[in-house]
Amino acid sequence: MARTFRLAVAALLVAVVCAVDRNNFKSCQQSSFCRRHRAVKPGESPYVILENTLSVTEEGVSVDLLNERTRVYFTLELYPLKDATLRLKINEKNPIRQRFEEPYALVGGTLAEGFELVDRSADGFTLRFGSSRVVVRSKPFQAEVYNGNDLVISLNPRGLLKFEHYRTKPQGEVHPEGEEDANVVPPPGDVEDDTDGLWEESFKGHSDSKPHGPSSVGLDVSFVNSHHVYGIPEHADSFSLKETTSTDPYRLYNLDVFEYELDNPMALYGSVPMMISHTSRQTSAIFWHNAAETWIDIKKLPDSNVVSSITGFFSGGESDPPQVSTHWFSESGIIDLFVMLGPRPLDVFRQYGALTGFNNLPPLFSLGYHQCRWNYNDEEDVRQVNENFDTHDIPMDVMWLDIEHTDGKRYFTWDQHKFPHPLEMTANLTARGRKLVTIVDPHIKRDQNYFFYKENHDRDLFVHTKDGTEFDGWCWPGSSSYLDLTNPEARNHYSDTYMLDRYKGSNLDTFTWNDMNEPSVFNGPEVTMQKDNLHPGLSVEHREIHNVYGLLFHQSTYEGHLRRSENRLRPFILTRSFYSGSQRSASVWTGDNTADWGHLRITEPMLLSLSVTGITHVGADVGGFFGNPDTLLLSRWYQAGAFQPFFRAHAHLDTKRREPWLFDSETLSIIRNSIRQRYQYLPLWYTLFYENELTGAPPLRPLWVAFPEDEGGFGVDNEHLIGSSLLVRPVTEEGATSASVYFPPGVWYDVLDLTLHQGPATRTVSAPREKIPVYQRGGSIVPKKERVRRASSLMRNDPYTLVVAPDANGNAQGSLYIDDEHTFQYRQGQFLYLGMWFEGSVLTVKKVDPRGKYHTGSWLERVIVLGRTKRPSKVTLTSSAHGTQTLESHFEPASGGRVSRLTIRKPGVTMNEDFTITIQ
Ligand code: NOJ
Repeated sequence: MARTFRLAVAALLVAVVCAVDRNNFKSCQQSSFCRRHRAVKPGESPYVILENTLSVTEEGVSVDLLNERTRVYFTLELYPLKDATLRLKINEKNPIRQRFEEPYALVGGTLAEGFELVDRSADGFTLRFGSSRVVVRSKPFQAEVYNGNDLVISLNPRGLLKFEHYRTKPQGEVHPEGEEDANVVPPPGDVEDDTDGLWEESFKGHSDSKPHGPSSVGLDVSFVNSHHVYGIPEHADSFSLKETTSTDPYRLYNLDVFEYELDNPMALYGSVPMMISHTSRQTSAIFWHNAAETWIDIKKLPDSNVVSSITGFFSGGESDPPQVSTHWFSESGIIDLFVMLGPRPLDVFRQYGALTGFNNLPPLFSLGYHQCRWNYNDEEDVRQVNENFDTHDIPMDVMWLDIEHTDGKRYFTWDQHKFPHPLEMTANLTARGRKLVTIVDPHIKRDQNYFFYKENHDRDLFVHTKDGTEFDGWCWPGSSSYLDLTNPEARNHYSDTYMLDRYKGSNLDTFTWNDMNEPSVFNGPEVTMQKDNLHPGLSVEHREIHNVYGLLFHQSTYEGHLRRSENRLRPFILTRSFYSGSQRSASVWTGDNTADWGHLRITEPMLLSLSVTGITHVGADVGGFFGNPDTLLLSRWYQAGAFQPFFRAHAHLDTKRREPWLFDSETLSIIRNSIRQRYQYLPLWYTLFYENELTGAPPLRPLWVAFPEDEGGFGVDNEHLIGSSLLVRPVTEEGATSASVYFPPGVWYDVLDLTLHQGPATRTVSAPREKIPVYQRGGSIVPKKERVRRASSLMRNDPYTLVVAPDANGNAQGSLYIDDEHTFQYRQGQFLYLGMWFEGSVLTVKKVDPRGKYHTGSWLERVIVLGRTKRPSKVTLTSSAHGTQTLESHFEPASGGRVSRLTIRKPGVTMNEDFTITIQ
């Protein structure tokens, strides 16, 4: 272990020397609590359960846990929750000061309908709930969580639990485990001699005063029988997470990282401490509920003797099962861990959503195409860009204004010279069905003449330094103060500033972009806020809430949007920083990427990681933020972006202008077609986002969600599924004219050339410059709208096309959701939710939720059925309003590798009616 550790350190030093921009950010070696947790020796856990203290309440059980080395007592609580979920908490029993418990991420977690305590003895006890159970062992403390008879997750199997209790600052020599308090002399070699940074720590000239000393918490969690774990965004790394035995651990600490590097575990703008394991038999997950700086080590154990505690289960000489051992440690707070037992991917999404909430159905326009740059210079610039989209027949829904639109980076104001008439400018956009987004950041210019600064300053609503003065940090406006978002008054006041009479120049078509909310502090340690700053609202150090600061900001923005429309209209907020639960109020983009092929490639794993951890309306800057993409890269990026949930082009101030019409006609036409393709599939995206709100299932999915048993898909992260019906393989290799595609089991229809592919198989397909490989799954029915419009709002009453792609048995199914696309009326029954089935030769479309009463003007323009063997003799439509009538159809037989296509023309039935179409 010591040798491995030294090697890891050496590797790190090499990395630090080679990659200059990493120097701004801490490595594990430079973080004292990270070092201390990595130094814990496996198999020597000092924590034991004192079984005679076990007490049972209606909610769960509670028992004392003793660190035998320090003689410090802890309380372990176990709460069985509904839907195969377990909560485990460990806190100090008698802390000298209260430990912080994160109050913002959770929205639910209902207690199970009962549990049973069995097998109680000095060795431990078992809690049964539903078909799950947790077996707790006393000495040392370990817990094994079973789904039925399958051991799924074990807690502390390697004995890495370490809970640094609060202590008074000793005079003289200090020990990391606090033995000075307990007057216990540790056995030689028992305690790492690493006392640096226990009571003060500095990094690049910034000192963290650490008035409360060491307070970190850590635990190891094993996913049994697993080879792949996913999640814990945000990292620019592979989707299936890598072992960290020779790198730093994955870090979760919200940071503004300039020109971030790819394929490494460094922290980025947001944190979701949720990890999923998937095997062909079992999907499970954990949520490490802690908003302080967190690191996660990952080790795959195919051959381990380390996890000896589970040999009781695998007795009779069998070797231990494969597993992914993960080791989590946070700088402060408590251990508050949720275990979700699945057993299938969709179960885990629902279980996690029950804890942290679901993505609210976004307004339809936000699923359209967004045009952004830093900056559109003035009203005339906005006018021209808006017009040029029409001149070039390219749909576009939203124009964005970056920080330069404000009066000197004073948010909620306008530059009077460049943007003197914001309402007229917005009206010019909305006249074409479009919207405006303006940026609002959480650093507030320290200027007594700026209303928003003065109001917050006068009411003392800003973050304080450790000495209790208003914190002054450097960001875009220069000297800035930062809202203390733990203070409900500050949140409330900020939200109110979105009222139309306060935010002058905005209206209900102005939406919001929250940036720099990690928070970014240019002159702070690691470009963020000092950890010993104080949030008077909750009386806590910034250290405790760092990772949730961004969420508090965008959540208050969301609240502001709700208020300004009296809860009538759906907000749209984009945030850069996020935490678990951000899905309830914001969409997320992956920050400042670069115009190169590597950054295009990494969008797939990054968006997959966000999607499976609940944050589902996600995208990356199309074209790359830094640098100038060449036309090949730009057009490939548009193709990819058109099939990712949030689709926005954006560019840095110093880059060349790159609106689509500034390029040659071939590039322009690829971009135009990509955006048009996006709009055609809007009904599919919208339906998936509705289902996402209901179930937590993300619209963008890894292959294993739809094909949980297909191991070939577990490591795939250069493809994704949209729902379970489209397979998308963005081309991210420079100059490639073909692509290697992994097809999961079943049949797949190329949506453009109608060739058929049979999975499971990996095949090289042709992907010339103008083509992104996209396939419709055999067995699916996909709704589309095919008329080209300026913006999605102009498509509201447009007719639908249904594309039926039968499976090997000739069957297919799908769903379609329709509502007014922008209000909350759908929650009062103003929606239609239709099921669609194709069986043999009959297509049935009918309401599947009888509560839905929306009346749509949309109708059915055509049905396309792929792969039929013969021309039909007759096609008929039957509906309550139309009775039975014959429909026109056109049959194109299979040829040259293409499957046949039957086009049923103008059924004409409105989508309000249930109907069937029969092919004879
Ligand atoms: C940083 C953001 O990531 C970027 O998208 C934005 O353009 C700049 N801040 C300026 O606001």
